[in-house]
Amino acid sequence: MRRKTANATTVCPKCEGSGFVLTDEGAAPCECQRDTETYRAYRAARIPRKFYMKTLDSFQAKNARQREILMASKEFAKSFRSQASDHPGKGLLLVGKEGTGKTHIAVSILKDVIGRGFTGLYWNVPELFLELRRLMNTSSELTEADIFDEALSIDLLVLDDLGAERSSDYVTERLYVMVNGRYEHDLATIITTNKTLEELRQQLGARIVSRICEMCIPIEFPEGDFRLKNMK
Ligand SMILES: Nc1ncnc2c1ncn2[C@@H]1O[C@H](COP(=O)(O)OP(=O)(O)OP(=O)(O)O)[C@@H](O)[C@H]1O
Ligand SMILES: [Mg+2]
Ligand SMILES: [Zn+2]
Repeated sequence: MRRKTANATTVCPKCEGSGFVLTDEGAAPCECQRDTETYRAYRAARIPRKFYMKTLDSFQAKNARQREILMASKEFAKSFRSQASDHPGKGLLLVGKEGTGKTHIAVSILKDVIGRGFTGLYWNVPELFLELRRLMNTSSELTEADIFDEALSIDLLVLDDLGAERSSDYVTERLYVMVNGRYEHDLATIITTNKTLEELRQQLGARIVSRICEMCIPIEFPEGDFRLKNMK
């Protein structure tokens, strides 16, 4: 990327202008990109850094099911909010085993939607509850209510890894507030999970899962851990 300095425009020596560098984990944004508007928006949406460079186009669809998933994801991103009267607030429920690309797809859609001017937010569900607990135990200006207000007002919310959080009455009650709030305001939510619907029902209760089923179009990811494939 080109940077303006006091006397000249220079090309970043680290990435030679490409905006990204190669790391052990693949391409990552170069330091010179940190303050660009796009990355500021990603940070504000709490998108994990690992996924900054991942896109729907970098999702490899090698079988028919993956091609269907990719098409449905592109369609979802493209038509986001444009057919509100036909599909008010429909989201996606991405179900599948570990490493099958659920977070990749969810975050890629979120970035696409943010890039087109909508507001978006990513929460990994176990981390959300760690953060809520941290806020209760520290005197921070941010409160639990702020976290919920944001999550209930944003255009597109991603709840990643639902069912991976440790259960308690507190967790179930807060998840109900979040899911029901999105449901009542017809706001789109993308949820990913390793669990089956029946397992989710047992863990979270029928009322949360019933709402998720109405709010979200279910998409099953075929087995095959992409992380292990990369080890070969
Ligand atoms: N079809 C694919 N094409 C390209 N990259 C992929 C594909 N599937 C997975 N990946 C990559 O493999 C890694 C694991 O994928 P991801 O994190 O999306 O899996 P997941 O289904 O969310 O797994 P988990 O349930 O363990 O969270 C990521 O780096 C992701 O970008
Ligand atoms: Mg994931
Ligand atoms: Zn650079």
